Amino acid sequence: PGIKDLFTSDFYIGAALSGRDVQSQTKELMVPLRSNFNSLSPENLLKWQSIHPEPERFNFDLADRYVEMGEGLDCHLVGHTLVWHKQTPQWVFQHEDGTVRSKEELSSLMENHIQVVMGRYKGRIDTWDVVNEAFTDDGQFRQSTWFNVLGEDFIKLAFQTAHETDPKAELYYNDYNVWKPKKTDGILAFTSKMRDEGINIHGIGMQCHLGLEYPTLDQLKETIEKIVDHGFNISITELDIDVLPNPSGRQGADIDANFPYEAQYDPYKNGLPNELKEKLANRYRDIFRLFLKYRDHIDRVTFWGVRDQDSWLNNWPIPGRTAYPLLFDEDYGLKNYLLDILVDL
Ligand code: XIL
Repeated sequence: PGIKDLFTSDFYIGAALSGRDVQSQTKELMVPLRSNFNSLSPENLLKWQSIHPEPERFNFDLADRYVEMGEGLDCHLVGHTLVWHKQTPQWVFQHEDGTVRSKEELSSLMENHIQVVMGRYKGRIDTWDVVNEAFTDDGQFRQSTWFNVLGEDFIKLAFQTAHETDPKAELYYNDYNVWKPKKTDGILAFTSKMRDEGINIHGIGMQCHLGLEYPTLDQLKETIEKIVDHGFNISITELDIDVLPNPSGRQGADIDANFPYEAQYDPYKNGLPNELKEKLANRYRDIFRLFLKYRDHIDRVTFWGVRDQDSWLNNWPIPGRTAYPLLFDEDYGLKNYLLDILVDL
């Protein structure tokens, strides 16, 4: 059985695809994709800078190909993402002379972008990350141009426009570190107020770029329970598990004192030691057990890539590392030590 078959009555199992994947659709990729996944996400190709690089120019080629490919594979399709402060061209926020756009300009640019992009794939892309990463880890509104110019209404405008454009699409608010209590609370306070005002929102996307230890299972469980208590569905939108020490320390105190600092950049470039394979397998097992407990509320679990080789974690937060966060090795082989634990759940 493929991974998706292990969870058919629980949730979709998804994978994010790069533009190169969608362009080439090699047999090496298509075979494991067809048997293991029933949902797809676009890693970059639907982001504003990819699909709408200039005011009057849209770049639909790759996105069209992505949607056709997904339909061919009979997959539940994700749109990622409509409104974000990153990977969005400068012209969206500023005039040519560098002055910031007015409220009227920015809101009509947003509305137009959503109408055109979402409208093109109406009824074909099933679910959208409408707004991405609008809150800080403290649960405050992020000071992006979207927020600074439009205020919190920018989130409402995005969801309203999305709903009018494709009333049947599921609409998600998506963010990272959603397990940090203040952040979760900030997001839930705002999104439930927005829903009570009559604005359509289906659920909360938890990206889940996880470490081996952080966040703890309890932290994740409390978060999931909070979201469920607020009446929202959950999608796990960008799952990966980083086994590398993190030089920036951003995911917690993960730096290993036994490594010389330089080596922390790429300590496992010659392969992952067995003890870490075991840790990774145990972590995946714990995480999936937790997800299964909440299967009635979790719509989808999407891995942020298929092969380790293609993971963004190889280049984050610094370029040139060797990460092993995903299910497949460089030859598109499903890692046995991970398959075993998923089969045994
Ligand atoms: C990442 C992609 O994986 C990279 O290829 C790209 O260079 C930067 O963006 N949160 C998100 C995703 O919502 O869109 C990000 O994807 C990872 C963090």
